[in-house]
Amino acid sequence: MTLGLVPPDFAARVGAYPSDGYLPGRDWVEALPGLLADLLDEWGLEPAGATLTGSCSVALPVRPRGRGGDGPDRGGAVAAGCSAGPEAGVGDAVLKVTWPHPEAAGEALALQAWDGNGAVRLLRADPRRFALLLERLHPRDLTTVDIDTACEVLGDLLATLRRPAHARVPTLAAYADRQATELRAAAPVIPRRYLDQASRLAGELASESAGPRWLLHTDLHYGNVLAADRCPWLAIDPKPMAGDVAFEVAPALANRADALGTGSTVRWALRRRLAMICERAGIDEDRARAWTIVREADTAVDLAAHPSGRGRTSLAVMIIKAMND
Ligand SMILES: Nc1ncnc2c1ncn2[C@@H]1O[C@H](COP(=O)(O)OP(=O)(O)OP(=O)(O)O)[C@@H](O)[C@H]1O
Ligand SMILES: [Mg+2]
Repeated sequence: MTLGLVPPDFAARVGAYPSDGYLPGRDWVEALPGLLADLLDEWGLEPAGATLTGSCSVALPVRPRGRGGDGPDRGGAVAAGCSAGPEAGVGDAVLKVTWPHPEAAGEALALQAWDGNGAVRLLRADPRRFALLLERLHPRDLTTVDIDTACEVLGDLLATLRRPAHARVPTLAAYADRQATELRAAAPVIPRRYLDQASRLAGELASESAGPRWLLHTDLHYGNVLAADRCPWLAIDPKPMAGDVAFEVAPALANRADALGTGSTVRWALRRRLAMICERAGIDEDRARAWTIVREADTAVDLAAHPSGRGRTSLAVMIIKAMND
């Protein structure tokens, strides 16, 4: 029965992933129906809707077994404004199981630290199996609202999420250190001067590793913010790291590229997004520009090998140019 819970296109896509420190996509996809069945059984849950998917995870709507389909129960009262979230027990929830890879390893730790403030509430976790039981949010995400409002929401969420990171969260300094070396050695998939600049900036940012180690949501884009009852918007999918908050801005620049316009408006639109988010989140704009250059160069180098990555590479160049102007 749980075989039907894994969409075939997801299985085909993730099945092609090579191992990233844990197990190859194919082995994980083969084991996934059994894993879902075990988790449903052990946690006393039953499916309550069609499986949603991300790039490396399934998110299965669930409810406590035997409760039946008698309407919404989000596990706590619907409050005006922003409440802390479901008090206890499991109401309507989502069982998220991720293909094991390093970026996802700290997700439970981060959600636990936020405890429902600005982010989806974690109800239960088995980090060893990369399995999370999450409060269920609405399907509507931040791509559905105008871009200025969306950037204000992202900036406010970043401010709400700010707190020191747990010692086990991977450090941004280590990432920057790796980029300083890798970008210098990378093939020129974008102009050499941008790779050299990104490598130099990464080295400078890495050397400042004595700064505060904040808990970072490193993938806060419009699709990773969902509407909720107890709060207008909540973040999901944090891919956490520990370090400088200025790292968090870049995903909001590259996503919703269709809303950037064309020609000379692109630079203006990117700088406007950057300014709005930094202002709301209390982030230094110069540092956000420097991290964005590093992250965009990294993305361009990563995607250069994929035939579908060409459009993203030109976007990376546009963003790096706009950060330099
Ligand atoms: N708590 C939740 N409530 C409702 N839907 C959710 C919830 N968590 C995840 N989803 C749905 O599942 C999708 C995938 O989840 P998520 O973004 O966490 O996974 P991912 O594989 O890490 O994604 P990405 O493609 O961004 O790497 C989301 O885009 C959303 O549609
Ligand atoms: Mg996501």
